[in-house]
Amino acid sequence: MCGIVGYIGYREAYPIIIKGLQRLEYRGYDSAGIALYDGENIKLSKTKGKVVDLQKRSKEEITLNGHLGIGHTRWATHGVPNDLNSHPHYSNSEELVIIHNGIIENYASLKKELQSKGYVFKSDTDTEVLINLIEYVQKNENVKLGKAVRLALTQVVGAYAIAVFDKKKPNEIIAARMGSPLAIGVGEDRKEFFIASDASPFIEYTNNAIYLEDGEIAVIRIGKKIKLRKIADDTLIVPFIQELELNLEQIEKGGYDHFMLKEIYEQPNAITDTYRGRMLVNEGIIRMAGIDNHLERFLNADRIIIVACGTSWHAGLVAEYVFESLVRIPVEVEYASEFRYRNPVISSKDVVIAISQSGETADTRAAIQLAKQNGAFVFGVCNVVGSTISRESDAGAYTHAGPEIGVASTKAFTTQITVLTLMALKLAKAKGSISNEEYHLHLQELELIPAKVAEALASDENIKAIAAIYKDSPNFLYLGRGFNFPVALEGALKLKEISYIHAEGYPAAEMKHGPIALIDEKMPIVVIATKKGHYEKVVSNIEEIRARKGKIIAVVTKGDVDVREIADHVIEVPDTLELLSPLLTTIPLQLLSYHIAVMRKCNVDQPRNLAKSVTVE
Ligand code: AGP
Repeated sequence: MCGIVGYIGYREAYPIIIKGLQRLEYRGYDSAGIALYDGENIKLSKTKGKVVDLQKRSKEEITLNGHLGIGHTRWATHGVPNDLNSHPHYSNSEELVIIHNGIIENYASLKKELQSKGYVFKSDTDTEVLINLIEYVQKNENVKLGKAVRLALTQVVGAYAIAVFDKKKPNEIIAARMGSPLAIGVGEDRKEFFIASDASPFIEYTNNAIYLEDGEIAVIRIGKKIKLRKIADDTLIVPFIQELELNLEQIEKGGYDHFMLKEIYEQPNAITDTYRGRMLVNEGIIRMAGIDNHLERFLNADRIIIVACGTSWHAGLVAEYVFESLVRIPVEVEYASEFRYRNPVISSKDVVIAISQSGETADTRAAIQLAKQNGAFVFGVCNVVGSTISRESDAGAYTHAGPEIGVASTKAFTTQITVLTLMALKLAKAKGSISNEEYHLHLQELELIPAKVAEALASDENIKAIAAIYKDSPNFLYLGRGFNFPVALEGALKLKEISYIHAEGYPAAEMKHGPIALIDEKMPIVVIATKKGHYEKVVSNIEEIRARKGKIIAVVTKGDVDVREIADHVIEVPDTLELLSPLLTTIPLQLLSYHIAVMRKCNVDQPRNLAKSVTVE
C-alpha cells in the first residue's frame, strides 16, 4: 500500500519529505511524487519508479524550496504505474493538491457526476476524483478547505489516508483517515507538524505522535492546536498525543546490505526482547497482562480461532500445533480474507487471536470486526506499536521485534511464534494441561533459543554455497512434518516473494499424493528433518525423493549422521524441544531465500509487486 508524508513548519520541506518517502518506500514503490508550496505557487514533480528517480527528476523540474509539502510513494491499485497516475494530484484549478493511500470504491460514479459538471481528468486514479470532489464542494458550498474535505469524504466509500493543501491557504494541511494508517508528528511548541503513514519519517524530529482513528479528520495549522473532528458528524475530539519509543538507529540498515539480512540477524535479540519481563524462568512465571486480565475468557473458551494473512498465518499454523499440544483446546487457523466472507460460525464462547506484524492488514481487520460483531473475544498479536489492530483488539500482546522494514517478514515470524508459545504455556499451566516438569522444561529451553538461533545463523556461509548451486532452479519443494509443516510453507513463501522462483510447501507425507510427480534430477527439495518429531518418517520421505533423483537439501539436528548420508546437502541447527524447533528450522530457510534472491539480483527489500502492509482488500 502507498506511503504518504507531509510537512508544515519552519524547516525546508523537500529534504524531510524525500527522506520520509525513502523510509516508507517498503510500503509501495511503483511511482513517487512531491508537491511543495514555495510561498507563491505549488511546485509538483512526480514519476514512475522509485524515490531516487523522483530526486533526479524533481531537481530538474521544480524549485525545491518551501516550508510546506506533501509526498507519496505508490503501490498501484487504480491505474498502471506511470507518471500521470503518480501522486500528488491537482484539482482542475490546480489550487488544491492531494496525496492518498487507499482505495475509493465508488470513484467511478463520483467521476461521472463530476464530469457532468465539467470536471476533466488526466489520470485513471480514484484519487484525482477525490480532489476534484473536494474542490467542487469547496466552491459549491463556499466553505473552508477543512469543511470541504470533510463533506466530500462523507460521500466517499472505501479506504483512505489523505493529506490536502490549498494554494490559497499555505499555513494549513488537512489530513484524514478511514482504514489506512495515519500518524501526525507534533513538533516542539507546535512550530512544525509531520504527517505520515507511520512514524519512521518524523522519528528523528519528534517522538510525540497522534495516531488518527478511522473516520477522523485533522486541521493542522502552524502554532495552533490540532483540530480533530469526526468526519461523519463534525464532532470535536481531543487529540491523544503519545510518546514513541522508536529511535533512528532501529530504522537504518546498520551496515548490512539489506534490511532483510539485518532483520534475520536481529532475531536472537528480538526473541529475547519479546520474552524479557514476561518469562521469569527461575520463578516459573509467565507475565502477560493481556492474558492475566482475561484468563477465564481463555480457559472457558470453546475454541480458539486464529485469523491472519501471509507469514502471520504461518505463525498461526505453528500456534495451532502448540496450543492444541499444550492447552488441549481446539484451534482453527483461518485466512482472514476467506474468514471475513465465508459467513463462519462464531460464538461469544470463542477467542479469536488476530496476528499481524503491521497491525494494519485490511483483511485481518475485517475478520476482527466480524468476530466482535458475533461476540467473540479478540486478542491481537502485533509488532507495530499503536497500530490499528492493536487498538481495535479487546486485549493483546506486542512482539518486540522492533521495526521490520524488509517486505519479506523474518523476525516478526519468530517473535510471533515466541509470543504465541508463551501464551500457550501460560494457559496450559493455568489449566493444568501440562505437568510442572514439562512447563519448566519449556521455559528453560525457550530461554536458550536466542543463543541457538545465533548458532543456526553461523551456518550462513554453508547456506550461501548451497544457494549458489540452486539459484537458477525454476522450482523448489519444501517439506516438513508436524510443528515444521508450517515452517516448510513459510520457507516456500520466502523464496517465492523475494526470488520469484515458484516454490511450494507441503506436509512431507502429502508428497506421495501428488507433488512427488514433480520430482526429477533438476528439482531441489528442502526437507526439515530434525531429530525430534517423526524423524524416521521424514527419513523415509527423503528416501522416496532420492529414488526419483531429487536434490535434497536437509535441515538436520546438529550431529545428525543418518540424513547426512542420504541428502545432497545438510544444514545443521542446534537441538531443542520439538515444539520449539520452528524457531530454529526457519532460520536456514530465511537465509537460503535471501542468498538466492541476492544472487539473482532481485530487489530483496522491495520485491516486485509486493508491499509491506496490505491495507486494502
Ligand atoms: C510476508 O513476508 C509478507 N510480507 C506478507 O505475506 C505478510 O506476512 C502479510 O501481508 C501479513 O502482514 P501482517 O503480518 O502485517 O498482517
